[in-house]
Amino acid sequence: MKALRSGLWLILPLLAGCAGTAPGGDLLWHGQDWPALRSPTAPDAAMEARIADIVRGMTLEQKIGQMTQADIRSITPDEVRRHYIGSVLNGGGAWPGMRKDAAVTDWTALSDAYYRASMATDMAVRVPVIWGTDAVHGHGNVAGATLFPHNIGLGAAHDPALVERIGRATARQVRATGISWVFAPTLAVGKNRRWGRTYESYSSDPAIVASYSRAMVHGLQGGLTGDGDVIATAKHFLGDGGTFDGIDQGENRTARTHMIQVHGAGYYPALDAGVQTVMVSYSSWNDTAAGKDYGKMHGSRELLTDVLKARLGFDGLIVSDWNGIQQVPGCTKDHCPQAVNAGIDMIMVPDDWKAFIANTAADVREGRIAMARIDDAVTRILRVKLRAGLFDRNPNAGAFAGKADALAARELGREAVRKSVVLLKNQGALPLAAGKRVLVVGASADSLSNQTGGWSLTWQGTENRNADFKGGTTLLAALRNALGAANVTFSEDARDVDPGKFDAVVAVIGETPYAEYNGDVRAPKPAAHSALHPADLTVLQRVSGKGVPVVSVLYSGRPAYANDLINLSDAFVAAFLPGTEGEGLADLLVGGRHDFAGRLSFAWPGSACSTGEDAASIVQFARGYGLSYAKPGRTGPLPEPAVPTAC
Ligand code: GLC
Repeated sequence: MKALRSGLWLILPLLAGCAGTAPGGDLLWHGQDWPALRSPTAPDAAMEARIADIVRGMTLEQKIGQMTQADIRSITPDEVRRHYIGSVLNGGGAWPGMRKDAAVTDWTALSDAYYRASMATDMAVRVPVIWGTDAVHGHGNVAGATLFPHNIGLGAAHDPALVERIGRATARQVRATGISWVFAPTLAVGKNRRWGRTYESYSSDPAIVASYSRAMVHGLQGGLTGDGDVIATAKHFLGDGGTFDGIDQGENRTARTHMIQVHGAGYYPALDAGVQTVMVSYSSWNDTAAGKDYGKMHGSRELLTDVLKARLGFDGLIVSDWNGIQQVPGCTKDHCPQAVNAGIDMIMVPDDWKAFIANTAADVREGRIAMARIDDAVTRILRVKLRAGLFDRNPNAGAFAGKADALAARELGREAVRKSVVLLKNQGALPLAAGKRVLVVGASADSLSNQTGGWSLTWQGTENRNADFKGGTTLLAALRNALGAANVTFSEDARDVDPGKFDAVVAVIGETPYAEYNGDVRAPKPAAHSALHPADLTVLQRVSGKGVPVVSVLYSGRPAYANDLINLSDAFVAAFLPGTEGEGLADLLVGGRHDFAGRLSFAWPGSACSTGEDAASIVQFARGYGLSYAKPGRTGPLPEPAVPTAC
């Protein structure tokens, strides 16, 4: 069933005179209040009647089981059957049999076991379980899958069509493993580079986020029922990117109009594109200017029911984040009537799902949750499953299920890398001429972990070896392929090597992987790359000023303060987190066969303590900046204000 483009929301803003257009053609909402939208999917009377009939025949335990999402590490297929579980997920770092190198057929075997268990219950009408996963830059959990640049890099590509193609490829990768639901796209509008999830945001510009939102939803969902389609998730609703001081799961303190126009910008196109699920943000909203504290999103009926479901017309399902309900005052991870009453339909309770079911059944029996709310939640879950065709077939019966070759999208990944990196400086050092003798240095040169970042095989992207990625190419390997192995010498720390004996040096430096709050750079710590990763400064000091041009490539999940490193370099490339296809970088660095096209989607800071983009921020390179061979530019010595011990 193709989500019908109502187009209604495209008209309302024009009529209300409250709209502007994003680069991808999506109207931006400038209204003072939430736009009045409605679902792009026309009501299907027969489907709704079928749903009502199923719900009528369900017991309370069956209904609450349907609202429960458990992690595969804590539930067996037979428990899915006995407890009528509606969904399972594999959190980052969970694989079939807990084997990181599990083959696609191991994934489909487990998926098939869960599916068959859900279809063997004693329910009057059996409801298939749905499996969700975080495929946020390709199917990150699966060895051998092409991993694309993280969103911060895709934002620099300014290419919604590319993002839609990546969504299509990702959906195929996920369906190859028998999974039908992806917790993506993240629609955060990142506003403070201290935030550990900055790299999951496409941009600090709501227009870019809005232009990518529809593209990724269409890419992932396609027509919803095809063998290469998955259900998408708009996340995290709402305002995660504006968390104060970049403190993950913290407090968004912006004014209502800002929340509506900036942090909501990605959701309106996603809803109009027919996204079927929305994941709630851990963050809270406290409109300090208005003196109104909306509290934690997981407990906010005003935002989840009155705004998202009623005003914005969302008729899919709302899912909580991982144990997110425990952050609601008075709640625990296995008991939160406030969250269910706020409008959450499916509870991600990875481990304590048995207690959750028992506690929530008691809430209903003792009047803390109305049966009507439970029925509404189950109705929405069934609606999404029916729209996605889950009742019609085993998710492992599709054309891509069990097919390892569906994991590969190497040329698309390589193209995405070429388009997503940004040339910040080039004083004639690039392109490297073929046949030149090059010294490669830096701890990131031969590290697929640093190249791919978080959400890669494991949750944090750590504890991985290059071989675990099966088929990924580091930049070192790509340079050897492009220049000839005999012309490339590698010295990770640049000790005991004389740069003067080479024609050029390529220094590959970067952050080590992280995810979520582990990536926060908490104030008052200076957010300066050299302070956080001193070995990178040391290696550059060893090779710079030796009469040989130095090309620096930086892997980072955020705009980094790096004026000292840029001054030590003759060329400097902001590569963000490019993923497994290092060849895309060599395509740009060697021979000039491809030109740089990336332009910053976040402002690049000019001071260690400048972490935002407001008028008070010190910006070195503005959002939209990017050099190329066709459009070179001079980057003079940059100021290097003293980096304080505390901001
Ligand atoms: C995490 C993240 C969310 C992810 C979920 C499942 O805590 O906040 O983005 O989808 O858990 O892994």
